[in-house]
Amino acid sequence: MNHFSYRSGRLFAEDVDLARLADEVGTPCYVYSTATLERHYRNFAAALPPSSLIAFSVKANGNLAVLKTLARLGAGADVVSGGELKKAMAAGIPPERIVFSGVGKTRAEMHAALEAGIHQFNVESEPELLALDAVARSLGKRAPIALRINPDVDARTHAKITTGTAENKFGVPWSRARDTYRMAATLEGIRIEGVDLHIGSQITELGPFEVAFSRAIELIGVLRADGHAIRRADFGGGLGVPYRLDEKPPPDPSAYGAIIAKLTRGLGVELIFEPGRLIAANAGILLARVIYVKKGESKIFLILDAGMNDLIRPALYDAHHDILAVREPGPERISYDVVGPVCESSDVFAREMRLPPLAEGDLVAIMTAGAYGAVMSSAYNARPLAPEVLVNADRWSVVRPRVSDDTLVGQDRLPDWLEG
Ligand code: LLP
Repeated sequence: MNHFSYRSGRLFAEDVDLARLADEVGTPCYVYSTATLERHYRNFAAALPPSSLIAFSVKANGNLAVLKTLARLGAGADVVSGGELKKAMAAGIPPERIVFSGVGKTRAEMHAALEAGIHQFNVESEPELLALDAVARSLGKRAPIALRINPDVDARTHAKITTGTAENKFGVPWSRARDTYRMAATLEGIRIEGVDLHIGSQITELGPFEVAFSRAIELIGVLRADGHAIRRADFGGGLGVPYRLDEKPPPDPSAYGAIIAKLTRGLGVELIFEPGRLIAANAGILLARVIYVKKGESKIFLILDAGMNDLIRPALYDAHHDILAVREPGPERISYDVVGPVCESSDVFAREMRLPPLAEGDLVAIMTAGAYGAVMSSAYNARPLAPEVLVNADRWSVVRPRVSDDTLVGQDRLPDWLEG
């Protein structure tokens, strides 16, 4: 469910006419809906035990305005870099609601997070544990940790976004979990708090979650018997979202919440969740304009002013994104290959997609682009990052301005031997 819908012949984001927005802000641009972000957050929170910490995964959408919208609802943050930590705190997310994930935390990042007093480090390896111990001791602190355990569960999602099988770089192997906790317990700069896992993203069945969570719960029993005080369980993110309106939607948060309730009854832990896509994906679109309609030998190409540098998911994961005409269409449909202007054969948003007839200058909305959209964009082909706009009912605001070509070019520096 989202708040992008047709009204009087045009696509609106809440109460804002996207055609007017495009005229004022220019295209391509990302547009996010406050009502959708809020609705998704509230739905997820309502499906879970009330004391759960919902740490929004900042990697999905790190815009400060998006983070602040969620912070106001009580969201915490799951961060994976010093930059994301700064963003989360700048958006007003209290450090005691921030968890720090990722396989390659540097000592400088650990230092910053310890100084800030974050809730938990999700530690992914023995060397990381030793580094964190050393940094914490140098500050006279104890770092609160959960070990991210790799439960060796196949999330049955795209190979490039699965993380919980033995071949992945993520987490401590299941077979070494007890030994690593034993080692952690000997380190003065470390305070064991819990167990963490995250098995992948865009997971569309509950089975893999159930298996992984059951394994984690079994491990909690074993660890407690070993003498560790396990007070928290972080179940990561990963719940999928509908990318196609014409397909069976993935399980909704209430079905996920029912599994959590069933498995964690009487467990006596604080639960932590790290949803990203579920909150943000369908709260955002990429608004683009048709530059040319090009007739090929056997295909018609719709060439947009947005490209793979703006939204890389189709090129990187063969991801499907629905595309809607901003002008409400009649019944006629034409088959188009929808492409961007970037000089790469993979700069394709959709192949043979049936769309209403479109002409130069027409606007389209690439849907479900609020997660892993703007955050993964680049300036490839010297195309400056697209601006971001946040809509709230009939109000809107540019929450990341367009970067000009001059600013982009001005970021480069000439060495002295090339000057003049
Ligand atoms: N927690 C951890 C430790 C993660 O690695 C991730 C995502 C999440 C939480 C949030 O997962 P979500 O709820 O959004 O599924 N760029 C890819 C997705 C990569 C996900 C990486 N990790 C895409 O565009 O599909």
